[in-house]
Amino acid sequence: VAVIGGGMITHDQILPSLYQLQRLGLAAEIRICAQRPASLRKLAHSPLLLRAFPGHSFIPYPAFEDANPNPQPELYREVLQSLPPGSLAIVAVPDDLHFPVTLAALRARHHVIVVKPFVLSVAHAQELEREAFAHGLFVGIEYHKRFDDRSLMARQKYRQGAFGELRLGHAHLHEKWYYRHSNFQNWCTTDKSDAFCYIGCHYVDLVAFITGLRPVCVSVQGIPDAYPNGRLGYLYTDARVTFNNGALLNVQNSLSAPDALPGTNTQGLTLYTSGGETGGFLRHSDQYRGLEYATLDGLYSEPSPDYMQYVPYDGTGLTPVGYGYRSIEQLTRRARQVAQLPDLASRQRLLQQFDAENLIATPANSRYNEALVEAARISILNHGITVDLPPEAIA
Ligand SMILES: NC(=O)c1ccc[n+]([C@@H]2O[C@H](COP(=O)([O-])OP(=O)(O)OC[C@H]3O[C@@H](n4cnc5c(N)ncnc54)[C@H](O)[C@@H]3O)[C@@H](O)[C@H]2O)c1
Repeated sequence: VAVIGGGMITHDQILPSLYQLQRLGLAAEIRICAQRPASLRKLAHSPLLLRAFPGHSFIPYPAFEDANPNPQPELYREVLQSLPPGSLAIVAVPDDLHFPVTLAALRARHHVIVVKPFVLSVAHAQELEREAFAHGLFVGIEYHKRFDDRSLMARQKYRQGAFGELRLGHAHLHEKWYYRHSNFQNWCTTDKSDAFCYIGCHYVDLVAFITGLRPVCVSVQGIPDAYPNGRLGYLYTDARVTFNNGALLNVQNSLSAPDALPGTNTQGLTLYTSGGETGGFLRHSDQYRGLEYATLDGLYSEPSPDYMQYVPYDGTGLTPVGYGYRSIEQLTRRARQVAQLPDLASRQRLLQQFDAENLIATPANSRYNEALVEAARISILNHGITVDLPPEAIA
C-alpha cells in the first residue's frame, strides 16, 4: 500500500486503519509519501500510534533523514512507479491534487482509494472513471459517514418508506477554530476550496445516500476570513441544495466552532419529510453521542465513540473501532477482491456490481458529488448565484 499525503487524515484515520489491516493480514508493507520528511517524522513519532500499534511502521518518502530543504511535490510519481502493479494507492493530499495523483496511480495500474471530495470537476471524474474501468482497476471514494451505522439505519428505513419523502433539511459541520492554525491555511484558500467543498459535501452525499435523491442545483455564499498566515479562506459558508424532487437542504459549514466546545467539531443532520397523514422527521446529532466526561485535568468533553476510537480488545496495543476504520477496511477489502480476479472481464463485472450496489461511493455511482463541488465553486466565486448541475452528471 502507498499512501500519498502524510497530514491530519492520514494520522487520524488512514494509517491506524492500515496498521490494523496489517494485523488482520489484509495489508502488507506500507509506504507513505509527503512533500517533506518533517511531516512523516511527526507521523512516525505519534505517541497514540506508537501505543496502539507497537512494532508497526511505514517506509517514508522522502526518507526521515533526507536533508533536501525544498518540498518534493513530484516524488509521489516515483513511489507509485516503484510499487508492483495491482497494489493499493490511497490518495490523501489536498483537494486540488486528488486528480493528478489519482491519475498517476491509475497509470501505474494500481487500485485507488481517494479521500473526499474525489475531484473538483465532472470532466476529471469521468476521465478517471474511464481510465480505471478500461484497466479493471478499483476506485473507491472515502465518504466514511456512509459507514456510520446510523446512516445505514436511516437509509434502510427511508427506502422502506418509513419517513415518506424529504421536503426540507438542514445539516451543519463546524470544525474547531484551531484548524485555522493547521496546514489548511496553505491549501484551503478562496482560490482552491472552501468550507462547503471541503466538508459540506459529506452531508449532501449522505442525504443522497439515505434518500436516493440527487442534487440538481446549488447556491453557496461564503465569508472570506484571514488565516493566521494572512491568506484568505471562505471559512464560513452557507449553501442551499435543491434535490430532484424539489426538496431543499441548507448546509452550513465553517472553521469557527470555538475551541472551548466539548467535541472535536459540531455537526448534525435534520430532515423533515412528508407522506401519509403525519409528517416524518429524522435528526442525527453527530457530535453529541451521549458521552460526557469530566477528567482530572479539569476538562469537560463529549467524545464520540463512533468515528475512530482505540480500545483494548486483545493482544498488545489497541484496536481502532468506528466508522472511520470500517470505511477503510471495506474499501480495502473491495480493492483486494478486484485485484484477486484473474482477468479484465471479471474485474469489470465486479466493478459494475459495486457501482450498482451503491454502498461504497465510486466514480460511476456518485458523480453528482463532483458536479455539486464544481457548481458550488462557480457559485461561491460569483456571490452565491444558483448553478445547475449538468443533467448527465446526476442521472
Ligand atoms: N472528513 C473527511 O473526510 C476529511 C477530513 C479531513 C481531510 N479530508 C481530506 O483529506 C485530504 C487531506 O487533508 P488533511 O486534513 O490530511 O490535510 P493536511 O494539510 O493535514 O495534509 C496534507 C498532506 O498532503 C501532503 N502533500 C501535499 N502535496 C503533496 C504532494 N505533491 N506530494 C505528496 N504529498 C503532498 C502534505 O505534505 C501533507 O502531508 C483533503 O482532500 C481533505 O479534504 C477529509
